[in-house]
Amino acid sequence: MQTEKINERYTQLSETSCCLSCGGAINYAKPQLNEICVDLGSGRGNDVIRMAEEVGVSGHAYGIDISEGMIAKAKTNIAKFEIENATILQAELEKLPFENNFVDLTISNCTINHASNKQAVWNEVNRILKVGGRFVVSDIYATTAIADEYRNDPVAVAECWAGAVTKDEYLTMLESAGFNNIIIYEESAPYEKGSAEVASFTISGYK
Ligand SMILES: C[S@@+](CC[C@H](N)C(=O)[O-])C[C@H]1O[C@@H](n2cnc3c(N)ncnc32)[C@H](O)[C@@H]1O
Repeated sequence: MQTEKINERYTQLSETSCCLSCGGAINYAKPQLNEICVDLGSGRGNDVIRMAEEVGVSGHAYGIDISEGMIAKAKTNIAKFEIENATILQAELEKLPFENNFVDLTISNCTINHASNKQAVWNEVNRILKVGGRFVVSDIYATTAIADEYRNDPVAVAECWAGAVTKDEYLTMLESAGFNNIIIYEESAPYEKGSAEVASFTISGYK
């Protein structure tokens, strides 16, 4: 049900120019030549294209998304710019289609809050990263716990706020997944979203 709502919402948004992001993960990620990079929730593919250009033809950029509309849009954009070292894959964040220790850099912008099992997502990010690999993620956290009545409401989760956890819960998940050297690069002031107060931040860590 939740993934259906997410698919529906983002397939509609794929044909608009509406801004989907809550931060600037890509601006801090600094992909290097030859690196293998992954963008979780790659949307229209803009960050995948940028990473593909930065890693060069001996590197590769993958985008993961669940929405058919977003996947089609991202593939069209990749073809339009004749990018050959980029691939978009349909998958859920909790089950990433990569082998262990495969990836140098994972980024994500305003997506992980949608996942129903965020700890599973962070465990997957850790699993696919090489030792010494890094993530740079922008996401939303709730300033106070989201009320139970919204937490499992698929529409509210798809709207990018009801799935948010508190900052403490977020940092605990990163530690439990095995990350270290956690750095918060930027953090917004709290703001209202739906029926919640949230803030966004851009955060990185190493395996
Ligand atoms: C807010 S948009 C952000 C898109 C892009 N990162 C950007 O900044 O423009 C969230 C994206 O994540 C995808 N998404 C949401 N939940 C997902 C899930 N559980 N598994 C895979 N993709 C998901 C949506 O389809 C959508 O394209």
